[in-house]
Amino acid sequence: MAKRQPRYVCQECGSVTNRWAGKCEACGAWNSISEETVPDPILAGTGKTSSVRGRPVRLESLAGTNDEPPRLETGIGELDRVTGGGFVPGSVLLVGGDPGIGKSTLLLQAAARLSSDGGHVVYISGEEAVAQVRLRAERLGVSGAPVALASETSVEDILATLSSGPRPSLVIIDSIQTLYTSIAESAPGTVSQVRASAQALIRYAKTSGATVVLVGHVTKDGQLAGPRVVEHMVDAVVTFEGDGSHSFRLLRATKNRFGPTDEIGVFEMTGSGLREVDNPSQLFLGERDTASPGAAVFAGMEGTRPLLVEIQALVAPSSLGTPRRAVVGWDSNRLAMVIAVLEARCGVRLGGNDVYLAVAGGLRITEPAADLAVAAALISSLGGLALPSDCVYFGEVSLSGRVRSVAHAAGRLKEAEKLGFGQAVVPESVATDSPKGLRTVAIGGLNDLIGRLFEDGEPDGLRGGSDASDARSAARP
Ligand code: TYD
Ligand code: MG
Repeated sequence: MAKRQPRYVCQECGSVTNRWAGKCEACGAWNSISEETVPDPILAGTGKTSSVRGRPVRLESLAGTNDEPPRLETGIGELDRVTGGGFVPGSVLLVGGDPGIGKSTLLLQAAARLSSDGGHVVYISGEEAVAQVRLRAERLGVSGAPVALASETSVEDILATLSSGPRPSLVIIDSIQTLYTSIAESAPGTVSQVRASAQALIRYAKTSGATVVLVGHVTKDGQLAGPRVVEHMVDAVVTFEGDGSHSFRLLRATKNRFGPTDEIGVFEMTGSGLREVDNPSQLFLGERDTASPGAAVFAGMEGTRPLLVEIQALVAPSSLGTPRRAVVGWDSNRLAMVIAVLEARCGVRLGGNDVYLAVAGGLRITEPAADLAVAAALISSLGGLALPSDCVYFGEVSLSGRVRSVAHAAGRLKEAEKLGFGQAVVPESVATDSPKGLRTVAIGGLNDLIGRLFEDGEPDGLRGGSDASDARSAARP
């Protein structure tokens, strides 16, 4: 028998050490290491080689035809879009997200939809009792759906249940952190339990051909092991994100062996469950205040889908030695860069001001194409001039103050036109793609932008002293 040896596993990243420490050397997390006693043949160092003789496998060539994997469509369009056209039989999908974001709701809705369409769907909740799941189903109006429901945490019992009945087409496990398998001896939720449970379920999916969906909570405090350790084992990882104080939710694929990873699904949490949002731009532009300075509409892209959002900036005189820069929904380094470019290349005086930037609706933007909209919002707030309400902005700002072109210009412009915008301020190179109803204004650099915004004369104090005007003339194309 393998020797049992205590080992210390970081609950954040899963790295193993043979000594406890307050801080994990691998990921830098504090207080995340806990002891797990596991008979591990490699760590125990038995020195024995495997007694099982290997069997040669046939080696194939890269060329050859493959069948498209069949798909199990849930009928929830936004979910199918993110998975690449539906669940793939025999694959394992991990749905991650903060507690309370709506993972159980989404999966129960998908389960109800699939089972009503004739699929055999098993929903195993390790977190909630059957009565609680029933209550949720009632709230969602899907109590009538023939979902096979159980509240169970033992992996062995779950596997026995699954193999005793007819083969399910979809198995939902909510959540992986609550599962317990006797293979690993540590407490439920620890890395070795999560890993061993996931492994058992993945093996089940591969051998039975059922799709298995695992729910995983991402917690910051390390109480439950994050599903990070499972990510490399499963076929697809989608994260469900959103801001607790807003009703919209984004479903995003971060890994997908059978489809794209740049698609997002947009949902709105309502009193009766998640509602698909077909036109996300309308949602994010819902409550615009077009009369006040500091708001610019950014024509963004999420995957292959255009998404218009409002970027709001507030520039206010600072009483602090080091002015505040606060950002919600965008990268603070990127904001620092745009501010530096505005100061150094255009002479815009932001140094003595606090700058607050927010992406409306609680969305998070990662695209550099938002630079131009951010710059427009900052200048508008500083100059006290509201931007035209029917105008969108996109373009990447380079350190020299020039505005560079970005991908998918035509899609962005089309979306803006569709939503009734009349003009778009864009990089020079994309101005030719514009659709009929939209006037494009091509700008080469941020100085052009300022010139266009303040055609009737710049307000006092927008631009600084003489050195700045030198910089301005140098940057003019
Ligand atoms: P839930 O699906 O339980 O989240 P998770 O499984 O990710 O932890 O959703 C919990 C939240 O969603 C809860 O705060 C209540 C809210 N909610 C609604 O607003 N409407 C609904 O119809 C349902 C079922 C939940
Ligand atoms: Mg849940």
